[in-house]
Amino acid sequence: MNKKICITGASKGIGFSEAKLLSKNNELFLHASNKASFKDNAFENTSFFGYDFTNINNVSLFAKDLANKTTSLDVLVNNVGVMVIENFTNFKDEDISKLITLNLHAQLLLTKKLIPLLLKSKDPHIVFMSSMSAKNRIIGESVYAATKAGIMQFAHVLRNELAGKIRVSTIHSWGVNTWNDTESAPILIPENIAKTLEFIISQERPFLVESIELGHENHWNGAKAPWSPEV
Ligand SMILES: NC(=O)c1ccc[n+]([C@@H]2O[C@H](COP(=O)([O-])OP(=O)(O)OC[C@H]3O[C@@H](n4cnc5c(N)ncnc54)[C@H](OP(=O)(O)O)[C@@H]3O)[C@@H](O)[C@H]2O)c1
Repeated sequence: MNKKICITGASKGIGFSEAKLLSKNNELFLHASNKASFKDNAFENTSFFGYDFTNINNVSLFAKDLANKTTSLDVLVNNVGVMVIENFTNFKDEDISKLITLNLHAQLLLTKKLIPLLLKSKDPHIVFMSSMSAKNRIIGESVYAATKAGIMQFAHVLRNELAGKIRVSTIHSWGVNTWNDTESAPILIPENIAKTLEFIISQERPFLVESIELGHENHWNGAKAPWSPEV
């Protein structure tokens, strides 16, 4: 592909898997909360950045740092995000702020700051990592779902505002095993998302994957719900 790609939250989990897959023939700009988070930094042609986005001012500092390293950007993957699961009545105030800051505010602000760099590319693309939680109604995920639904709707409008200039895609994924699941839950693996990302950004204009839903064939939402009649 030979693209200049920035991935946020790329030190582990989905972002790391995306970086691994795309590192072969692209120039990467990888972000995490701290440079030391990159345990495996044997990537070629890659710059590493450490900026903790819980301090929202660091988003602008990261964008400036990135603009000092490259004169253009082909792909921005807004992957950074965290999950806190709790009944809303028990939710800690600081966790509400954390989720909204990292999953929503930081992504919007970084996108705004990097649009000028993306517009220097002949074929720029922004990809948002949302979640099926934006569309499901899973107990305990109220705040997380709100941030992911926010990203989904933001991306819908941005896609229209930037039409013909920057393509905008959103990935909605069911659970992904980024925590060494030992219960064999019906969830995906990070490589599933990495391959999806590769597919999305390798498609030629004017084709656009606007929004994609990724599931596991055995999860209850796609198969048999607890209240489904016997077949
Ligand atoms: N895993 C799932 O089931 C799933 C499903 C659907 C969607 N998603 C979404 O996919 C994205 C990646 O999820 P994941 O499960 O791969 O996450 P993960 O394994 O927990 O990795 C999170 C990444 O974000 C970075 N990060 C965390 N806090 C940060 C902060 N304060 N400032 C800057 N960077 C920070 C981490 O860097 P450090 O190593 O420095 O902390 C790490 O690189 C998220 O947006 C998530 O909501 C996940």
